Amino acid sequence: LRTYSYINLTFLSGKRFATYNPATGVKICDVEEADRLDVDKAVEAAKAAGKRGSPWRKMDVSSRGRLLNKLADLMERDRTLLATLETMDTGKPFLHSFFIDLDGSIKTLRYYAGWADKIHGKTMPVDDNFMCFTKHEPIGVCGAIIPWNFPLLMFVWKIAPALCCGNTVIVKPAEQTPLTALHMGSLIKECGFPPGVVNILPGFGPTAGAAISSHMDIDKVAFTGSTEVGKLIKEAAARSNLKRVTLELGGKNPCIVLADADLQLAVEEVQRGAFFNQGQCCTAAARVFVEEPVYEEFVRRSVESAKKVAVGDPMDPRMSHGPQIDQRQVDKILDLIEAGKREGAKLECGGCAVEDRGLFVQPTVFSGVRDHMRIATEEIFGPVQCIFSFKSQEEAIDRANRTQYGLAAAVFTRDMDRALSISSALQAGTVWVNCYNALHVQAPFGGYKMSGNGRELGEYALAEYSEVKAVTIRLTEKP
Ligand code: NAI
Ligand code: MG
Repeated sequence: LRTYSYINLTFLSGKRFATYNPATGVKICDVEEADRLDVDKAVEAAKAAGKRGSPWRKMDVSSRGRLLNKLADLMERDRTLLATLETMDTGKPFLHSFFIDLDGSIKTLRYYAGWADKIHGKTMPVDDNFMCFTKHEPIGVCGAIIPWNFPLLMFVWKIAPALCCGNTVIVKPAEQTPLTALHMGSLIKECGFPPGVVNILPGFGPTAGAAISSHMDIDKVAFTGSTEVGKLIKEAAARSNLKRVTLELGGKNPCIVLADADLQLAVEEVQRGAFFNQGQCCTAAARVFVEEPVYEEFVRRSVESAKKVAVGDPMDPRMSHGPQIDQRQVDKILDLIEAGKREGAKLECGGCAVEDRGLFVQPTVFSGVRDHMRIATEEIFGPVQCIFSFKSQEEAIDRANRTQYGLAAAVFTRDMDRALSISSALQAGTVWVNCYNALHVQAPFGGYKMSGNGRELGEYALAEYSEVKAVTIRLTEKP
């Protein structure tokens, strides 16, 4: 494995840290660790790469698009290697890495490659003898701090729109999962991006991460991770240089299943939503509200299907469920499962770690969950499905919205009138109707309330990576 910690620079910290395979507990390798001084050095490189007259700033916008497409081509060439690294580092099933994470990453690069020469302003009719037009310019140096649940996808979600808009970037992958980001560094170099345009700094949150969010010469920071750290980042941005901040944080996403829904479809989609990526998703289907007449049948079928989930070695293509990322996450999940039992929810299946299998947690279903319980309010980030029952549509909407979060939500019904009125009433950045986790690069993604600020993906993300300049010209006559 050849990795490049960052481009055209060497590390100052002299430190290294280990990354482990969560499926086996075995150390994969050590990687170089970036610290505050390394961030300073990377910022200098990123500033130089993005300054007026630099090759990156002078590059034709169509060439910028071609570079992004070339990076996608190299990812296709190295698809098996990238998917293998992702599975080794995160424990997610190889087939998911190969088909879902790689597919999403490649599509994201190609989508933004297409935008590179289509980012333009407007001409406004203004009062008196003036002409006014806008230009969309790069913000400058963009920091990206990303999590361990989708390391490659989050890397690309951040760099693709940033580069498409002409920025330079500094990415800090999560300390648990630096490997695919490092391989991307080698592909970025092979592509021919000018040095300093993309800088990859593996390291820890309180050191390298905090150095990014508080840096005076980083103009924007994009973060995906916990709500707690999201607050720290916004605070650090405010205290330093008021850098632009976009945040994609936690969720406690509600699904409303009406009695007229295609029940089997709802059971399958909602459970996949709850267990996908071992439940380690900000969009996890966390609270399932089922209308009373179909509640018992929904629980019965969900339990039956949970018991069939194939848990085991993520490299084995027959397995669809791997380990959690680390012991800290397992402890948090088991603690919440215990709280659920203590507070009176009915444990239908699962409920503990898989014996002798380190970080594996059994797919777990709770029924009879009540709104005040910890499993109903706290983000679990593990394979735990919580099922509630409801009587009326209004009640379901109120309970669904009674949370600090607002990332995603879902409705299952055959009645499109009700689907539309419920989707309007739900406070969430994404509402899925008769589907779950249906993410598309063309559609914006992000949260209401404490699930975040700003939007990723789609045309909407371009605004998060551009400054708008209004140029006003005095004329001697009204144009
Ligand atoms: P985290 O928020 O600490 O980690 C995410 C990233 O932030 C990592 O790159 C980390 O190094 C960095 N970071 C940590 N402290 C920082 C600081 N002070 N300044 C700047 N960067 C910092 O999340 P963690 O501890 O790995 O997981 C805790 C919980 O967060 C999970 O159980 C889950 O509930 C939630 N989470 C949500 C994610 C999402 O996709 N929205 C992803 C990962 C975790
Ligand atoms: Mg690892």
